[in-house]
Amino acid sequence: MDATLITGGAGFIGSHVARRMIALERRVVVIDNLNDSYAVQIKRDNIRDFIDHPLVTFIEGDVRDAGLIEQTLAAHNIDSVCHLAAMANVRASIERAQLYFDVNVNGTLNLLEAARKAGVQQFLLASTSSVYGNTSPVPFVETMSADRPLAPYPASKRSAELLAHAIHNLFALPVTVLRFFNVYGPHGRPDMMPIKVLRALMDGSAITVYDDGELKRDWTYIDDIVDGVISALDRPLGYEIINLGFGAPATLNQFIDILEDLTGRRLNIQRVPTPPTELLVTYCDNTKARDLLGFNPAIPLQEGLARTWAWFRGREGSGF
Ligand SMILES: NC(=O)c1ccc[n+]([C@@H]2O[C@H](COP(=O)([O-])OP(=O)(O)OC[C@H]3O[C@@H](n4cnc5c(N)ncnc54)[C@H](O)[C@@H]3O)[C@@H](O)[C@H]2O)c1
Repeated sequence: MDATLITGGAGFIGSHVARRMIALERRVVVIDNLNDSYAVQIKRDNIRDFIDHPLVTFIEGDVRDAGLIEQTLAAHNIDSVCHLAAMANVRASIERAQLYFDVNVNGTLNLLEAARKAGVQQFLLASTSSVYGNTSPVPFVETMSADRPLAPYPASKRSAELLAHAIHNLFALPVTVLRFFNVYGPHGRPDMMPIKVLRALMDGSAITVYDDGELKRDWTYIDDIVDGVISALDRPLGYEIINLGFGAPATLNQFIDILEDLTGRRLNIQRVPTPPTELLVTYCDNTKARDLLGFNPAIPLQEGLARTWAWFRGREGSGF
């Protein structure tokens, strides 16, 4: 039976994709180096409910290890790759630019090379709305310039997109680049706002908010993202870049209001100047995803945050 390789499968999005694939009775090989970008225990918790499933092979390893990647593709009949492994925190990328490029560019190159040699049928590359920088006007359309990144992280992701095009051009490897917009939900990354705000609401600690809280983000619920990922995995399109986002940005103030209402608590806010890494707005034009992938995001922010809060509350006391 052919299998899909999910890199970064112990992370937030990867673990959800793996769970959905198993529900669809599809075989997956999950590779993740369980690094300390955030608490390793969280990554172990992300995979705990499926790591022993008969449809799953878990490999603790690094996407920069070319030998391991080639061997994995051959040994497991990999016919599609869902490449999600990355160093993914925008602000952390300022101080760790070399590591970000090593993983996000060289690691991606390893996978692209191995995939084209192995005759992989579809290669998904996770990219980000932050490649648009402060492009205007909004919403962001895939044809707009993405050549003014504001930090090493989006610069590394844009580089990976370009590299993927080169490999596609030379070897006809089908590649779909998915630009995710502000993904949130259960098992969310602890360095992102939804989980940071929930934690701060629970323990009363102060949280930093940029300037007046009016930066806008197009929050996209994890189940909608997974729908888009699975659909893209099953539809080789040559080389395409596709936005995956809900399409309705909210200010951070609106976002905080919803979480305060849900939890019945007030957030202890410390205002700081907006750093130069930050986009003023992320706003997804998802027309292309709707047309090419049948993408139809269904979970508005209020509902998605209610689900996230329900999950978070269930884990209170577990140290998360
Ligand atoms: N969460 C978002 O809102 C968002 C938005 C845009 C793009 N993305 C992209 O989506 C992908 C998944 O993001 P996420 O939020 O799930 O992040 P995450 O940090 O939770 O998951 C990434 C996983 O990759 C693993 N990893 C990192 N370096 C590795 C290496 N060298 N070898 C093997 N594994 C390695 C990490 O251990 C982690 O488990 C990333 O490529 C990220 O850049 C995420």
